[in-house]
Amino acid sequence: MYKYTYVMIEEKARFFKALGDRTRLTIVGCLLKHDHCACDFTDIAGKDQTTISRHLKILIEAGVLRYEKNGRYVIYSIRDDSMKETLERCGVEKVDSCCSESAMDAQTKKHVVKKNYGKIALGMVQGCGCCGDLSGEEIAGSIGYSSNDISSFSDANLGLGCGNPTALGDIHEGEVVLDLGSGAGFDSFLAARKVGKAGKVIGVDMTAEMLAKAKENAESYGFANVEFRQGDIEELPVATGSVDVVMSNCVINLAPDKSRVFREAHRVLKDNGRMYLSDIVLLKDLTAEERSDENLICACVGGALMKEDYLRIIREAGFIIRIIDEDKDISKRQYAGYPLESLKLELRKK
Ligand SMILES: C[S@@+](CC[C@H](N)C(=O)[O-])C[C@H]1O[C@@H](n2cnc3c(N)ncnc32)[C@H](O)[C@@H]1O
Repeated sequence: MYKYTYVMIEEKARFFKALGDRTRLTIVGCLLKHDHCACDFTDIAGKDQTTISRHLKILIEAGVLRYEKNGRYVIYSIRDDSMKETLERCGVEKVDSCCSESAMDAQTKKHVVKKNYGKIALGMVQGCGCCGDLSGEEIAGSIGYSSNDISSFSDANLGLGCGNPTALGDIHEGEVVLDLGSGAGFDSFLAARKVGKAGKVIGVDMTAEMLAKAKENAESYGFANVEFRQGDIEELPVATGSVDVVMSNCVINLAPDKSRVFREAHRVLKDNGRMYLSDIVLLKDLTAEERSDENLICACVGGALMKEDYLRIIREAGFIIRIIDEDKDISKRQYAGYPLESLKLELRKK
């Protein structure tokens, strides 16, 4: 009896000692909100990797955290739900976090993007807002859609893409496809035609107006195998290991934490799952002013990464990359000559 009590006291002392440090409290607060890669904490807590590793070890030993290997990444999370409750009861607050910029910046960016795409969905603004005045049909025709694709789903084509992910590889009957940032549903419907009744397409978008338009389109086109879910691609409302193909068209550049997006895509894919992706990457860096220009951010330019950085974070998330095409011409056609290209990729889950 005495020994039992002693062990319990020892455990509690380790627990409180683990929380008695500002850096560790920050780490735990972030993890109460989202799982994180160890590498995120160097930015979040402003400490070097060795210091962060020491703090993580103390939290693991105290039973507060657990970790899991995901490709080259080690992902940390709170041990379980009962530990989450204990921490919250002890007054540990959730902390908003993002890898390379302050949480406020990331939230503001998402708010601006949502507002812009909400207006586009309602037809109050045309196109992404920065560059050129091509019609939706002209844009779609120039980035890889056939005239049949365009005429089949004209209400869903808002001219917001920079490629045609459904044409980058095979999508088979019966497969489950996930469309990140599904907009009005154009690519989701093209994929739904390929997977047929035995398959399923899930579109995820964070903008309520866009989602409403996509759902309305699904009904009018008579698709029972497409489901649109509201959600953030940095935190997908999709079960782990449940998807054959993830696709995305000109969306990931809009997400403040692109590493999280790729880790999430990796999580939801089945083993050997694949991803077809077109997105804007920079060939020359922008000025700080351009990076914070709301119009440029919404136009898929301001938030874009340099090409090498984009490819690096994809590899770090655990994918093998095959570059299918690089459309440099799109810079002149759609982006007023900004130094960028549309990268079309096939990714394989390692
Ligand atoms: C440029 S549009 C592309 C739409 C669609 N993929 C297409 O090609 O027509 C970007 C879409 O991504 C959505 N989006 C942007 N950031 C997102 C995020 N973090 N999570 C979910 N959706 C997001 C926007 O609401 C918008 O519908």
